[in-house]
Amino acid sequence: MTRKKVTVVGGGFVGSTTAQRIVERELADVVLMDIVEDMPQGKSLDMAESAPCIGFDSAIIGANDYSMTANSDIVVITAGLPRKPGMTRDDLLQKNAEIVGSVVDNVAKYSPNAILLLVSNPLDVMTYHAWKRSGFPMKRVFGMAGVLDSARYRTFIAMELDVSVKDVQAMVLGGHGDTMVPLPRYSTVAGIPITELISAERIAAINERTTRGGEEIVKLLKTGSAYYATSAAVLDMVESILLDQRRILPCCVHMNGEYGLRDVYCGVPVKLDHEGVAEIVELKLSSDELAMLHRSAEAVRENVKKLNY
Ligand code: NAI
Ligand code: 2OP
Repeated sequence: MTRKKVTVVGGGFVGSTTAQRIVERELADVVLMDIVEDMPQGKSLDMAESAPCIGFDSAIIGANDYSMTANSDIVVITAGLPRKPGMTRDDLLQKNAEIVGSVVDNVAKYSPNAILLLVSNPLDVMTYHAWKRSGFPMKRVFGMAGVLDSARYRTFIAMELDVSVKDVQAMVLGGHGDTMVPLPRYSTVAGIPITELISAERIAAINERTTRGGEEIVKLLKTGSAYYATSAAVLDMVESILLDQRRILPCCVHMNGEYGLRDVYCGVPVKLDHEGVAEIVELKLSSDELAMLHRSAEAVRENVKKLNY
C-alpha cells in the first residue's frame, strides 16, 4: 500500500515536531519544507536516522523546492514568525499574511487536491486568507487552534481535580486569541460536567489561564512559543483525516450560517473525515455563550478587514 503524503511547511519548532509525530506514528510520508537552505534536509535526515531506534518506516525528506511537495494529501502550514514576549498574535498579522500567501500560491500549484491545515498565527485570519488565496473549497481549508486550547483546558481541569487527563473532555470555541470561549457546561470528567465538580470561582480562574495559555508559555520560553502541545494537537487532526476517524474536534472553519455566523473563520466543533470538514456540529449554546462566540468572531472579522478582504 502506498503511504499518504503530508507536507509540513515551516521547519521550525512547530513544523519539525509535527513532522516527527506524523512519521513516528507512521501516518504518512512527510516532506518538511522551509525557505532556509539545508535546515529542513538536516532535520529530516536526523529524524530518518532515528527510525531504527524508534521503529518506523515512514519516509521523511527536507525540501526548499515546492516541486518535491507535489500531490500531497495534506499540507500543514506552520511557516511564519512566532510570537515573542510582549508581542500580540495580531502584531504578526501583516508579516505572516505575506508569508502564508506565498506558501499557499505554491501549494495550490503543486497540490491542487490537498487539504490545507493552517497553524500560523494569527490563526483564524491566516486560515481565511489561505481559503481566499487558494480558491479551494472550504471543507479543505481549516485551522488548528481549538484542539490546542481545549488540550490546555483539559490539562488544567485534570490538575485542579487531581485526576487522569484521559477522563477529561473539554471544549473551547471561538477565535484563537483573548476572546476564545471555554465552555464549562460542555467540559466533563468521566462524563460529569465540571460545573458540578469545580466552584464557579475556580472555573473562572481555569478559563482565564486557558485563554492566556499561549502567553504563559511564551513568557517562560522567552524566545518563541509553544510547540509540543501544538504539534500534538495538529497530530489529532491529521490522524482523524488520514484514518477517516470522523472525530469531533474544535477546528477553525468557514461559517456558513451555523451559530448565526457567516463568511468568517471561527473555532467550532467539527466532524473531520478523509475529505476534511464533513460537518459542523451545532451545540445548543446559552445566550451568554452565543454572545461570547459572536464577540470572538467579530474580533476575527476586524482583523480580516486589515488584509483588505
Ligand atoms: P519558528 O520560527 O520556529 O518556525 C517558523 C519557520 O517558518 C522557520 O523555520 C522559518 O524559516 C519558516 N518560514 C518563514 N517563511 C517561510 C516561507 N515563506 N516558506 C517556508 N517557510 C518559511 O516558529 P514556530 O514556533 O514553529 O511557530 C510557527 C507558527 O505557528 C507561528 O506563526 C506561531 O505563532 C504559530 N503557532 C500557532 C499555534 C496555534 O495554536 N495555531 C500554536 C503555536 C504556534
Ligand atoms: C499558542 O497558543 C502562540 O498561538 C500560540 O501557544
